[in-house]
Amino acid sequence: MYQYSLHNRVNEACVKNKLATGGKDQLFYARLMANTAAIRSLYTELYGHHPRGEAGFDALVQTLINAHLQRAAVLQEKDHSKEKQGHWFLSNEIAGMSLYVDRFCGGLDNLPGKLPYLKELGVNFLHLMPVFQSPEGESDGGYAVSDFRKVDERFGTLDDLQKLQLRMQQEQMHLMIDIVLNHTSQHHEWAIKARAGDPVYQDYFYMYENRSLPDQFDSTMPEIFPESSPGSFTYVKECNKWVMTVFHQYQWDLNYTNPAVFNAMLDTIFFYANLGVDILRIDAPAFIWKQLGTTCQNLPQAHSLLRLIRQCVQVAAPGLALLGEAIVAPKEIMKYFGTGLYYGKECEVAYNATQMALQWDALATGDTRVMLTAQHDILQKPYGCTWINYTRCHDDIGLGYEDASIEAAGFNAYGHRKYLKEYYSGVHPDSPAMGALFSVNPKTQDARISGSLASLCGLEKAMEAYDEKELEMSVRKILLMQAQSFFIGGIPMLFYGDEVGYTNDYSYLNEEGKSYDNRWMHRPVINWDKNERAKESGTLEQKIFSATRRLLQIRKSLPVVADHKNLTWLTPHNIHVAGFLRSDGKKKLYCLFNFQAKAAYVTWYTFKEHGPAVTRLYDHWNEQKLTVGSDYEYLVIAAYGFCLLEVVG
Ligand code: GLC
Repeated sequence: MYQYSLHNRVNEACVKNKLATGGKDQLFYARLMANTAAIRSLYTELYGHHPRGEAGFDALVQTLINAHLQRAAVLQEKDHSKEKQGHWFLSNEIAGMSLYVDRFCGGLDNLPGKLPYLKELGVNFLHLMPVFQSPEGESDGGYAVSDFRKVDERFGTLDDLQKLQLRMQQEQMHLMIDIVLNHTSQHHEWAIKARAGDPVYQDYFYMYENRSLPDQFDSTMPEIFPESSPGSFTYVKECNKWVMTVFHQYQWDLNYTNPAVFNAMLDTIFFYANLGVDILRIDAPAFIWKQLGTTCQNLPQAHSLLRLIRQCVQVAAPGLALLGEAIVAPKEIMKYFGTGLYYGKECEVAYNATQMALQWDALATGDTRVMLTAQHDILQKPYGCTWINYTRCHDDIGLGYEDASIEAAGFNAYGHRKYLKEYYSGVHPDSPAMGALFSVNPKTQDARISGSLASLCGLEKAMEAYDEKELEMSVRKILLMQAQSFFIGGIPMLFYGDEVGYTNDYSYLNEEGKSYDNRWMHRPVINWDKNERAKESGTLEQKIFSATRRLLQIRKSLPVVADHKNLTWLTPHNIHVAGFLRSDGKKKLYCLFNFQAKAAYVTWYTFKEHGPAVTRLYDHWNEQKLTVGSDYEYLVIAAYGFCLLEVVG
């Protein structure tokens, strides 16, 4: 609908800023005008009743104009070419790695020198764990930011980051960093001013004079770190107030009901966008809106905020894609892609956290039924959006999928989860895994799991026992887990170190500021002598590295793996085998994964159920030509093995 006064107001702002609306700023102007109504309506939904709402809207428009004016010509060209390409992030040619700069290579200035290693592996997309300033010892791995614009000296300087970005751009690599939207460090200047009693900045946070409201909030808010930071509020003695701290006590939740907070953080988003970032990881978006009487997670207003951010980004930095880091129940994750009018128009990317956890479920049980029952929800992802697929990341593994999925597969949900926790913490007598329980809730016994990919797959235990057979099995498991996540559709995101089999690192136990958080056991400090062994034939590192590289090469060579919502799960003829078909017209790739410790048999009928009967297959992984046999004969998949079968006739 044409809204004369609104358009006039926005137009006037453009005139005041001397935009060349018929010249170099034309595309921006067109995008701004096209999105104005949506921006206004989302903004009004959130801030329409706020006393400073109207002034805030003008500030928002100014933020957009500034962001555009500060966007380098080369980035504007890149925006344009990404737009022409369409959903560039759906490509089968993008593969990522997530890493801590300091633990990977010391500092940002060393990272360009490591790009050849990453390219050799097949990685062309980097997620740098937070590099902006955060106080040592109270940093939550960088997720407690005290200055959103200053690179922490532990990692280097803003100039180093820009040099890295430039180099990556030249190498056609993509970059992702975080915006920690939900909270700041208690040492951020806003928190310092709030603590000193400044009411303007106290309104940037949720601060209360007594326990009355905090108690009411606490009664419905789940605890995130119940062991190390119970409750969701912290007493601040300097101002004699309680501040909301959902995560750690040193992470103060930002108050997004205040439009000034929104504008300041939107400006930060554009600061990152204009550094040339390709994907922005929005940390913990599920938590950004709080309301009494609710869990304060996944609230409708949190989605409106994200949609507002997306609309704004589309106007001033259209090449930037947004990743919503929502590690929540499967049905809730899906909503971060947008619903209703905004279907497919909220975050373009989300973590496939449900699938990740389900793979760990299947690995521990040797049974793929729970994985299958949950797929209905996962498949609801809109076209044009994609997943980050992963087996491990810097965080714990949450078993957050529905009890109903477990029960639909015929298990008792409580007993099943108990088994998984015992299996991965290594307590179960049959378990080769060496991990640990993270954030055990003493009231509910809920817990998540820490541990590196290799240790959870049994490598650490096998090495300790010099058990060759188990060693071999653990490598197979590592590759099985990686392969499924590489081929399921979406961007594979490796976690640094996993490409050469790093096992748990227990040194965190002796470090102040880390010892209470066992997620540090799976955040290795890279020893480049070990990584160099990836070049020596016969070493464990070489086995894992070269197989991982080969998987990525295969993926890159098969456009059918691009995420075009082209995945069909196969009928489960064997409960130990998970299988799906990726197809695009006549191109078909059957991917089958055996999650049990012995060979699995799948009848050839499997390949006759979807479309015209198949006669010949080529297994890209095992490098084998196969002829599809009679319905009662079998394809045999080795213990923890898998096949990537392209239909060739
Ligand atoms: C995200 C991060 C996690 C951090 C939390 C609080 O979930 O991945 O590491 O602890 O946000 O910022």
